[in-house]
Amino acid sequence: MRWPTRERRDETSTYRTNQRSTMLLRFTLLALLVLAPPCSLATDDSARADDRRVVEAHRGMVVSVSGPASDVGLVVLKDGGNAVDAAVATAFALAVTWPEAGNIGGGGFMLVAPPGKPPECIDYRETAPAAATERMFQPGETNLSHRAVGTPGTVRGLALAHRRHGKLKWRRLLEPAVRLAAEGFAIDAATAESLNDVLKDKDSAKFAEFLRVYGKQNADAPWQAGDRLVQPELAATLRLIADEGPDAFYVGKTADLIVAEMQEGGGLIARDDLARYEAKIREPVRGTYRGYDVFAPPPPSSGGICLVEMLNMLERFDLRKLGRESPQTAHLTIEAMRRAYRDRAAHLGDSDFVTIPQHLTTKEYAAKLAAGIDRQHPTASAALAGEIDLAAESEHTTHFSVIDANGLAVSNTYTLEESFGSRVVVRGAGFLLNNEMGDFNWQPGYTDRSGRIGTTPNLIAPRKRMLSSMTPTIVARDGKPVLITGSPGGRTIINTVLCVVLGVCEFDLDAKDAVDAPRLHHAWFPDRVQLEVRGDAAQRADRTKLADALKSLGHDVRTIDRQGDAHSIFIRNGVYRGYADPRIAGHAAGY
Ligand code: DON
Repeated sequence: MRWPTRERRDETSTYRTNQRSTMLLRFTLLALLVLAPPCSLATDDSARADDRRVVEAHRGMVVSVSGPASDVGLVVLKDGGNAVDAAVATAFALAVTWPEAGNIGGGGFMLVAPPGKPPECIDYRETAPAAATERMFQPGETNLSHRAVGTPGTVRGLALAHRRHGKLKWRRLLEPAVRLAAEGFAIDAATAESLNDVLKDKDSAKFAEFLRVYGKQNADAPWQAGDRLVQPELAATLRLIADEGPDAFYVGKTADLIVAEMQEGGGLIARDDLARYEAKIREPVRGTYRGYDVFAPPPPSSGGICLVEMLNMLERFDLRKLGRESPQTAHLTIEAMRRAYRDRAAHLGDSDFVTIPQHLTTKEYAAKLAAGIDRQHPTASAALAGEIDLAAESEHTTHFSVIDANGLAVSNTYTLEESFGSRVVVRGAGFLLNNEMGDFNWQPGYTDRSGRIGTTPNLIAPRKRMLSSMTPTIVARDGKPVLITGSPGGRTIINTVLCVVLGVCEFDLDAKDAVDAPRLHHAWFPDRVQLEVRGDAAQRADRTKLADALKSLGHDVRTIDRQGDAHSIFIRNGVYRGYADPRIAGHAAGY
């Protein structure tokens, strides 16, 4: 869907008029953001909070990985914007304040649930350039390269969301991001750690522009909390998008810079790929679980189908009776994961290119799969391969959740794929490009026990969207949202969301407990359970016992420190409870 000419002209003329009110707005925003106390502690006493991770409010809430970005969204809500306005402003702000995953050079999925209307999914996943071919990548080829960059979708996606649902002017929504990039902001400990990690990675050294933009200037010391990150080229790019709309990125000056960068570095994105990129409105996958409605993205994300398929299987067991942390519940959950991820590999890809079987989300199909689960022993993943001939992912996406006073709910997950994407910063434009081409199946026909998948539905083709696991989710009861959630984590994303949804819908946990509860993951292959062990000594001892019990059932178990980062909002009796997952960083901001 392109930005319609008439609307663009209207918006553009408004962007350029009324400089005085813009100045005033800038000043107000600056005052609000710089001088105001954190909003959870703000003057409005409808908000109260223990700290900025847990916030209760009645009129609006934004929960994201970054304090300044959550605050940007909150100020938009307070200024009369709705949840989509706040989501758009938060997403642009995250592109500045959380550069490892917040982006304008990547893509994602936004679920929007307007009160009284069916939810919709805005698919702004990247596409393969027209010059891409099925076998363009050699086994072992690096995915930190210009060739690994897919045509970005974020700017068109956010513009589409704004055009369909937004109330405030587009320019107003970008203004805080422009300012954060131009004037800089004090980074927090998580951002410092994320920058230091990538800068010490030897692969980063191959990308001079990356080091120039994200390296700490004139200092041998690493980044520290409180240091200021200033991004002048990014500010200029965002200002252009604010002034001219998304065409600045897709056909204007930024497009020129992207194409020049591609030509210089051997990438495939051409002017026509950018000009023809469309974000799409898709109907979310809908499932039910014990009276709740669950909405999550359809292909090209695998999230919705796998989540609903797993919930349908698990609904057939009385997990509550078996106990939330019992080995039996964990075993059944793992077996449901194994089966859904097997179907992911066999059937899922971009539905504009491949036919997705309709039965995967039916209760009848789940009944059949559930009947095949042995309650005492794991099923060997290889035994489920069927027609697939037998021959990996990280933690660096970001999710945020928003709700406004009218109950309009937004669940957004977007990514550059790996942390800091391809590490290619567009020279002259100051932003990172994704390496999302890595989400296609690179080696046709080669599926192995380590988790490499070479099945047909997700092979590379020109302009095709690569399969995603991103699962921004909204759970509703009687037509009203009760939970907004999602997570980063590559293939683990769907299972993180499953754990949070089960916590709320099966085990009646509150916000904090459902998000804090330790998680687990199984993805068919590798045929291994990943079990999160965290918390205090007693909690860690319980998890170690659970790992031992699963091993004695015959599971291969690997323990890990952390799975996902699910910034969520729970809605009960008109109260919005925001909970920023403590696993990485994050702030809830409500009023
Ligand atoms: O779309 C996907 O599923 C992946 N590109 C997401 C990558 C990710 O979550 C990495 N880490 N958090």
